[in-house]
Amino acid sequence: MPMLLGFAIGTLLTAGVTTALVLRHMARVRAADARVRRAKRLAELGSMTRGLAHEIKNPLSTIGLNVQLLTEAIEDLSVDDEDRKPLVRRLGSLGREAERLRGILTDFLEYAGELHLELHAADLNSTIDELVDFFMPQAQQQGVQIRSDLASGTLEAWIDPPHIKQAVMNLMLNAVQGMSRQPEGVARELILRTSRGVDEHKRPVVVLHVIDTGPGIAPDAVERIFDPYFTTKSGGSGLGLPTTRRIIDAHFGKIEVHTEEGRGTDFVITLPVEDGGVTHQGASGGG
Ligand SMILES: Nc1ncnc2c1ncn2[C@@H]1O[C@H](COP(=O)(O)OP(=O)(O)OP(=O)(O)O)[C@@H](O)[C@H]1O
Ligand SMILES: [Mg+2]
Repeated sequence: MPMLLGFAIGTLLTAGVTTALVLRHMARVRAADARVRRAKRLAELGSMTRGLAHEIKNPLSTIGLNVQLLTEAIEDLSVDDEDRKPLVRRLGSLGREAERLRGILTDFLEYAGELHLELHAADLNSTIDELVDFFMPQAQQQGVQIRSDLASGTLEAWIDPPHIKQAVMNLMLNAVQGMSRQPEGVARELILRTSRGVDEHKRPVVVLHVIDTGPGIAPDAVERIFDPYFTTKSGGSGLGLPTTRRIIDAHFGKIEVHTEEGRGTDFVITLPVEDGGVTHQGASGGG
């Protein structure tokens, strides 16, 4: 009898454990399904919004052109200046608004467009060197000194150099714009520093700091700087940093910021040395 009881309990336990395992597996499958559905829906929404932006952008060009033609026609009309001027002024503001909307759509399409990265082993140091060479005159014009403090030798990373240049250029532009608002006499220095390191899984990485001696970022703003359209500049689109983050994400890297008001800002980019896509499945440059 005790043996039978033991057998029954054993069977019940086994059945219980099996059921729990099956249920857990099913929950995982359902969660994975939901993730795939969400990703698909986001991709659909992305391509719909891109299509919509294109559709609005094209007629805006035509509107702009027609406004210009109308203005010219009105200027040629033999009417009093008194009557002509308000019309021309109104058409002028119509044209400017059409142009502004076109600008917004252009920025959006650039940000939301597909990213086609060609990741391969390349030297981050020479990528930064080329960028500094290119950017130097613009920085000097704003009274900013650029200093490169690069790791010795070549610094191989798994990158697409033109896109890395675009990502870092956005940081350099922000740094120079921030520093050019500083009063005269305050040091304006932009430092690009590279080094070797390892990530939290002990995989080799390269690290790039973009450091400025600008005004720093207020604590309530710093949480929002990577949000699309967040800007504190009158002519800013607020898409510079989101674009940079998107490019770094597509490299399987990460970007962090350390900042102190009145002292400056340090953006830190970490990039894998080896093919990040092998270990991080499912991510691609698309968007
Ligand atoms: N180095 C920096 N120093 C001070 N503030 C910064 C710095 N980098 C970014 N910011 C802040 O983050 C905001 C968002 O930056 P982002 O590059 O996304 O947009 P933007 O520079 O305002 O516009 P755009 O890049 O289109 O010219 C900026 O408006 C600014 O307030
Ligand atoms: Mg910017």
